[in-house]
Amino acid sequence: MTLEVVILAAGQGTRMRSSRPKVLQRLAGRALLTHVIQAARALNPSRIHIVIGHQAEAVKRHFADDDDLTWVHQHEQLGTGHAVQQAMPGISDDATVLVLYGDVPLVRSETLRGCVDAAADGSIAVLTMRPADPTGLGRIIRDRSGKVTAIVEERDATAEQRAVGEVNSGILALPAAQARRLLDTLDTANAQREYLLTDIIHGAVSAGIPVSAVVADDAEELAGVNDRIQLAALERHYQHRLTAALMRDGVSFLDPARVDIRGELVAGMDCEIDVNVVFEGHVRLGDDVRIGASCVIKDASIDTGSIIAPHTVIDGASIGRGCAVGPFARLRPGTELGRDVRIGNFVEVKQASIGNGTKASHLAYLGDLETGADCNIGAGTIICNYDGVTKHRTRLGDGVFVGSNSTLVAPLEVAGGAYVAAGSTVTAGVGERELAVGRSRQRNISGWTPPAERENTEG
Ligand code: UD1
Ligand code: CA
Repeated sequence: MTLEVVILAAGQGTRMRSSRPKVLQRLAGRALLTHVIQAARALNPSRIHIVIGHQAEAVKRHFADDDDLTWVHQHEQLGTGHAVQQAMPGISDDATVLVLYGDVPLVRSETLRGCVDAAADGSIAVLTMRPADPTGLGRIIRDRSGKVTAIVEERDATAEQRAVGEVNSGILALPAAQARRLLDTLDTANAQREYLLTDIIHGAVSAGIPVSAVVADDAEELAGVNDRIQLAALERHYQHRLTAALMRDGVSFLDPARVDIRGELVAGMDCEIDVNVVFEGHVRLGDDVRIGASCVIKDASIDTGSIIAPHTVIDGASIGRGCAVGPFARLRPGTELGRDVRIGNFVEVKQASIGNGTKASHLAYLGDLETGADCNIGAGTIICNYDGVTKHRTRLGDGVFVGSNSTLVAPLEVAGGAYVAAGSTVTAGVGERELAVGRSRQRNISGWTPPAERENTEG
């Protein structure tokens, strides 16, 4: 059976009160529509059609790199039924069509699979739910025997119909040929004066086409986003889903309600994550990694046993086993820490490869640097990597000791075992086991009288 997915994303989303199209609003760092597309892709459909209208160009631009998407323009938003109709010319007759909404972002592919399977026998399968508050949603109307006979939008519903707790998620699957036929019979005789996709159910029942309802047990999974309050609620729900899965896999969160995963977090066993940590992009943690409070960690891998102390910001770094980073450290893209490296407070590292056991414990800038093992980089060390035009590299051999408050002017090589005296400005290479002293000699002036103690001779 071929599967073709149609995602409806042409609406304006007035209630968001935003200049951005609704489907580009972010949930867990990604556009709502991205979540829906990912759920669709997991089903391996032969095509994904996205119906766009409001700010169509902005939506297309956002997905400019995704070449598996077919864009369908709905020039006037005449309703969800009209929207699906626009996609039908591009869909083959023998396909099963799965309709998704761009503003229902948390639906899981397993749930969609259930809906598609229910339509495999040629029936129309509607995904339904029983939310705590059904206000505003289409009600599922069943006859005495429990068969679905219609979906009635709230604005068209009688008081009796409004009392029904089972509602339409908007998601449905049906054979393409039936879709084509039923969509052609729609009219706008309803409160919204639109072509409502939901009206095909009534049409199907009249035509003797079987309709089945797949009831989802998690209503929040199928909740739509219409305003920012709903968006924030779904964000928390989604975060809870992610942290619950990680906890089941052996990760501890000191408070799972106070963490944000905007992307993918893969973690080994016995990791411990304190509050207010934000993960972005792809982050991989080994076993026994501890992340302190209020860290922001993006596109990074942190190996077993490493400890990231509070308020550390990491972006594009790979951290070896047993490292200690922070508090208040900043690791920028291109940072590679070996094993047992210590990067302390107010140390900034970028495009640097730091050898095993090397320490930079306080207040330093380490840019475009390569160090050997077991170096000691003193407080206040600055690598002067930039001459105003080009970035240059600095290399330290094994066991180099850089005294506090030194500036190392790149390009520079400091050989293994060399020492740099505190307060030095080093501009020329230092050989093995040499001591570089790059500062003016201290002189002491004796008999010095502090200004306050001087006699006022000028009157
Ligand atoms: C829709 C359903 C309702 C269901 C609810 C679940 C219909 C008629 N109603 O109502 O039964 O309970 O979803 O969330 O389907 N869209 C277009 N073109 C249009 C109109 C809408 O692409 O002409 C898109 C919107 O961008 C949105 C989706 O279709 O992504 C749903 O439209 P919306 O207006 O939000 O429908 P609801 O009133 O929420
Ligand atoms: Ca909606």
